[in-house]
Amino acid sequence: MPSEFGCSTNRRRFLQYLASSPLFAAGGFASYAAEELPIRPKLPDPVIWAPASMQDLITSPKEAINVFDFEPVARKNVPPAHFGYMASGIDDEITLRANREGFLKFQLRPRRLNDVSKVDMSIDLFGAKWDTPIVIAPTGGNKFFHEEGEVAVAKAAKVGNHLQILSTSASTTVQDATAARGAPIWFQLYASPSWEIAKTLVKRAENAGCPVLAVTVDRLAGRNQETMFRLRKTDTRECSACHQPGAAARVRRRPNYDGIDLSAMTSMESSNMTWDFMPRLRELTKMKIVIKGIVAHEDAKLCVENGIDGLIVSNHGARGEDNGRSTIDALPEILEAVGGRIPVLVDSGFRRGTDIVKALAMGAQAVCIGRPYLWGLGAFGQPGVEKVLELLRIELRAAMAQCGANSVKALTPALVRRA
Ligand SMILES: Cc1cc2nc3c(=O)[nH]c(=O)nc-3n(C[C@H](O)[C@H](O)[C@H](O)COP(=O)(O)O)c2cc1C
Repeated sequence: MPSEFGCSTNRRRFLQYLASSPLFAAGGFASYAAEELPIRPKLPDPVIWAPASMQDLITSPKEAINVFDFEPVARKNVPPAHFGYMASGIDDEITLRANREGFLKFQLRPRRLNDVSKVDMSIDLFGAKWDTPIVIAPTGGNKFFHEEGEVAVAKAAKVGNHLQILSTSASTTVQDATAARGAPIWFQLYASPSWEIAKTLVKRAENAGCPVLAVTVDRLAGRNQETMFRLRKTDTRECSACHQPGAAARVRRRPNYDGIDLSAMTSMESSNMTWDFMPRLRELTKMKIVIKGIVAHEDAKLCVENGIDGLIVSNHGARGEDNGRSTIDALPEILEAVGGRIPVLVDSGFRRGTDIVKALAMGAQAVCIGRPYLWGLGAFGQPGVEKVLELLRIELRAAMAQCGANSVKALTPALVRRA
């Protein structure tokens, strides 16, 4: 099986990148690079397709050849602690790498002599039409990366008519993000252990016109974000002005919580949540309910049995636990368990048009993107996000055409096989 670390040219390039990267200086990578030990160094994302040297960075979105071109620019612009928060996986970051390497386990089987002179990438989700299956995944605190935060992301999403999912812990309200997007967005829910807090957040999203609630269920425990902790040490700013200990203090600067009594807030996430939560939620809201963070077929089946409207196969971009399994690897068993009864979306590690085609051909309805649009945001603000999304659309269109598929429906399981 091909591997980006198996090829000596790529390995040399990778080591050059490491040697020139601030991460090299900040982290403990020097000995790995110098001695060429057969240990995979920890990196926020496999970046071998990015510029090999920090001196070769793109200076405008127009120069970008692929989404990876934005990451080192964001690394340069964004304060180290914030970049580290975005980039970090957990522990050994095995899952972070698996999310990329998982795509190598699947190959495309293109078909020929179909008319692909026009490719329709549009999809339908819960009765709404989107021009592409590329969805903005919910990510918290986008103002960490650029002062315009989620509003810049929403405006960029509007340009390509992408669905946006807004995080509970966004640095912009659901109302402002909806206004900037100019169309209904989905709201991601961190329910917290308190029903009262969850209830207020849900009502707020419903009143803002969100048609769908994505309930995140995969963040349950504390997490060892080693890359973030290492980079944070190099950050010379005074962090305590914004970051105070405790969950309530943490969300006080997240405007979706404005006006909510946070005295019962022991954590943003809900380690006490069980399936019993879902009927209560159903009773509370008319929004469609999607569960985000499913990685096992048993839970996918339970989603269907519990009347959930859709699910997102996600390991939170390898930010929850270091379970070692990519989501593209988990996707087939989940699609099989669901059997087409509810829409299945997927995220974690998607960076290329061919990655997206593989998931759609397996049977996913849409693919959510996290870090790449944050790289674009951190690098150049809204124009950076626009370009990241445009590059993904260009790659997706080309990959579909090369597969002989002129619509998302024409992407069928026969076009993809396990390597
Ligand atoms: C900086 C950052 C913040 C995130 N915040 C949230 C969040 O608030 N809620 C949530 O459900 N997922 C959150 N995620 C996970 C994303 O929704 C998504 O699952 C993940 O980023 C996809 O993987 P990718 O970054 O490799 O594309 C976050 C991800 C990142 C990178």
